[in-house]
Formats: sequence, structure tokens, C-alpha cells
Amino acid sequence: MSVPNEFDPESIKAKSAPEMGMYRAEVSTAEPMKSVLESNPEIYFVPPQRGSQWGEWEFQPGSYYDTTTGAKHPEWAQHSLPQPSKDIEQLRRDMVEWGYCKIEDALSVDQITVIRERVLEQAEGERLAGIAQKTPSGQNINCCVNKGRCFEQLIEQHSAAMQGGPLVEQLVTEALGVGWICTSLIAAISLEGGVPQALHQDQGNALDSRSPMTVNVLTAITDVDENNGGTLLIPGSHTALSDAVRENRPVGKLPPAINLDAKAGTVVITDGRILHGTGINHTTEPRIVMLNGMQKPWMRQQENWMLSVRPEVLRRASPKLLHRMGYQATTGTQTNEGHGFGARGIPGEAAGATVAFRLAADAGEYLRVGELSSASTGEELGANYTLREVVGAARQGGQSAPVGITSMRLPTGEG
Ligand SMILES: [Fe+2]
Repeated sequence: MSVPNEFDPESIKAKSAPEMGMYRAEVSTAEPMKSVLESNPEIYFVPPQRGSQWGEWEFQPGSYYDTTTGAKHPEWAQHSLPQPSKDIEQLRRDMVEWGYCKIEDALSVDQITVIRERVLEQAEGERLAGIAQKTPSGQNINCCVNKGRCFEQLIEQHSAAMQGGPLVEQLVTEALGVGWICTSLIAAISLEGGVPQALHQDQGNALDSRSPMTVNVLTAITDVDENNGGTLLIPGSHTALSDAVRENRPVGKLPPAINLDAKAGTVVITDGRILHGTGINHTTEPRIVMLNGMQKPWMRQQENWMLSVRPEVLRRASPKLLHRMGYQATTGTQTNEGHGFGARGIPGEAAGATVAFRLAADAGEYLRVGELSSASTGEELGANYTLREVVGAARQGGQSAPVGITSMRLPTGEG
């Protein structure tokens, strides 16, 4: 029998010119950055210069990177931009209006010291090992969770590493909804001679969303300002861009970028839709900011925690840390051989916990369910499948049975 002509690739192609596609406008749009760059070309323009020349700096009103702090910028000084605060109501207002807020003294002096020393030692170690991850701005330390207990605690916003953790968590939960997870934890070190980063949005899709899909939890480990590469950002651009997309109109002229200024120990939460980029470090001292992105639980994470986390870190990880790294499945995300159907994706929920699969793989003992049938041997049917063990343990833990699993007829007669 011949295959119907409608399934022939050439026939499909003939009926699939770009203008014939459904949802074409949304799927292929280059907005909002297209109109941002048309109306504000200077925010993307980085003239070619040698690294040593970036140190020569003076404020230029038309430049997105030779800028200054909000308080010193002639176009921003009269606005009440976010100030460091511990007042949750003020912090909420700053997030909604300006797309960022500054949590004052979220880390104590001692907590800053622990992280700063660990970052500098790790950076040196990675340089000596020949595996330093250079960026146009300096050096990044990726996958920090493997590189010190203080980083595990930072991802958890544990009060041992971040005294203001409970307040940070509350704000992130309000922004993203319950169940949010972590995309990565990176130490971003800006060094003298580094190049400014083009302004961009972290949240690269769903840009017309009325609330953020991602937020970044930036922790200043050194003081940051206009001299040492304080993050460049355009206050209020989170709504300027998402409103334009939703209303199907160009973004238009934007106000100028400023350098974020924050004392060491300040946590700055930024809305994933705000235009931002790394600034230029004009000093000889390293500028350190911890970048801890958080996101809706259904988005793919930047760090592939499923593979990259060290076994010993996984074994000691708290339920909260495992959840933030993505080791708690929900019905729609990251089920493992069906384990996780019916789970809500909350810390410690046995019905969605997947770390046992990874630890079994580490031990070379992960036995996956393969092809089975009525012709399978007794040995095949009775094999010690890891799935069987994980489901059994979840049931013994007294958790509600995962929906997908209860309908399975397990060969041992369980279920
Ligand atoms: Fe970014």
C-alpha cells in the first residue's frame, strides 16, 4: 500500500508557505527587541575597543554603558527609584513599578565574608586548573552548588547564609507563585578591562505576561556602583516592553540606563522582563555578584542539575534544595518513567521525588523498564527495576499514590 500523498514531505512543503502557518505572528515575532533597537539603537551599540580602553570612562548622557547611578543621573535623579529597604510593602511597590527592589542587609557582614572568600578561592582554583570560565566581563563560576556549602544554603535562601532569606522567599513567591524553582547559581566576577554586555531580557518568551515568569536574585558580595560594573538596567522597562507586546505596538523611545548601586550584602530582585546587562569594571578590584535565577516550575532550567550535581551534594541536600534544583516532578514536568504523575511538585513529596533514580544511576545500578510482553521471561518480569523500588518507597512513606503508577499492574502483584 502506498503512503497517502498528504504525508509526503514535498506535498506538505507545497502547502506550508510561511504566510499559511497558524499563529505565525506570535511564533515568528522579533518583538519587543526589534522595536527597542529601532527606537533606541544606542543601547545596543558597543564600539570596538581594546580591553584596556574600557577603563577610560566619563559619563555620557547618550550612552547606555558610560552611565551612572540613578541618584547621579540627570534624567533619573528626580524619580524615586528603589532604595535599599527591609520594608516588604516598599519592596513590593518597587518590584511592580520599577522591575527591581533592593533588600537591605539581606546578608550579614559575616555571611558576606564567607561567600566572598569562597568565590575568590574557587576562581583562583579554576584558573590554576586551566578551566576558568571567562566571560567578556571577567570570569564566571558556574554550578556553584558543587563548590561549597555556603552556595547550597544560598540557593535555599537559608537564614544561615542569608539572614534576610525569609523576606526574599516571600517576594519571590509572590512574583512567581508557589512551586517556583531555581535555574542556576553563578558567581559573576567583573574584572578590569571587561566589556559591557548588551542590554537584554532574561525572560526570553511569554513577553506579554502581566507578571514575571522569571526573577533574578542578585546578591552583591562586593559593593557595586558606577565605578566597578554595577549592573546596567533601565528602570521600568519590564512593563514598557511587555505592555507594548500585549498591545501589539512598537516599544518606542526608552529612558536611559543606569548603573545599579548596592552595598555588599544587598539582595536585588529583578523582574525577568527588565532590560539589563553587565556594566564595566573601571577598578582593579574584582566585582562579585551572585546570580541566582528563579523561575516558574515548568520552564527548562539553565543548569542541567539532573547531570551536574555532585552525588555527595545530592545525598545531603535538603528537600527544599532538591526541589529548587528540579528533583521534584509534577504531572506535567520531569516525570521519571512515569514516577511523578499526580505529584504537586512540592519539597519532600515522595510521589514526585526523582533523586533516587539519579543516585541509582551514579551507582551504576539504575535498572530501567524496557520492552516487556506476555512472552517476557519470569526473570524479566520480576527484575529489580529501580522504578519498582522508588514507587514502593514512596508508598511506604505514606504519601498519596502517584496517579500513573496505581493503574500499572506490577508483576509482583503490588498496586
Ligand atoms: Fe541577564
